[in-house]
Amino acid sequence: MSTLNILALSGSLRTASTNTALIRAASELAPEGVSIQLYDYSGLPFYNSDVDLPEAVSEFKQAIADSHGVLIATPEYNYSVPGVLKNAIDWASRPAYESVFRDKPTGVISAAASFVGGARAQQHLKTILLGMGTPVFAWPELLVGTAHKKFDGGKLVDETTAGMLSDYVAGFTAWVRSAATTAATP
Ligand SMILES: Cc1cc2nc3c(=O)[nH]c(=O)nc-3n(C[C@H](O)[C@H](O)[C@H](O)COP(=O)(O)O)c2cc1C
Repeated sequence: MSTLNILALSGSLRTASTNTALIRAASELAPEGVSIQLYDYSGLPFYNSDVDLPEAVSEFKQAIADSHGVLIATPEYNYSVPGVLKNAIDWASRPAYESVFRDKPTGVISAAASFVGGARAQQHLKTILLGMGTPVFAWPELLVGTAHKKFDGGKLVDETTAGMLSDYVAGFTAWVRSAATTAATP
């Protein structure tokens, strides 16, 4: 069985990000034969169609194209998706209708300070993905509320959340593998 490569994006660039820590925990819980790698997109400029395609954007798009699936962990900023993440997605979304996100199996998880765990950001992000023709993993959902209490020193320490994350990763990666197998079948 070949390795399933999942490219992971965190919606937060800060070093102590709980969303980045959530991706690290997901990577540790990944089943055998699955690799979940965090992609650092912090070097992307602001979107501007006047500029020639920057190298950082080409590399970002190529990394998405080369992956079997994408996993996004996002915080909620003012009831929506953080600007840095939306900017990165906007770059990757071109050319419209034929972008690297089209038909790319994608999962959305979230960690946020409020009790609802980024539910509004997740919903907005899922709508954005829908607009690019991106299939989005439906369930189980994973929302980590009061996230600041569930991580310590960059590690997920809440056992209930760890169990839910493990279920999510198992379901999501099985779904991506089945999409990858279907795509490879003539
Ligand atoms: C600009 C800004 C807006 C925020 N808005 C929300 C919000 O609408 N809902 C929420 O639950 N938390 C909100 N927060 C708190 C974040 O959920 C919290 O900072 C979270 O830990 C950020 O994720 P990170 O740990 O991955 O950086 C906001 C934080 C910032 C900096």
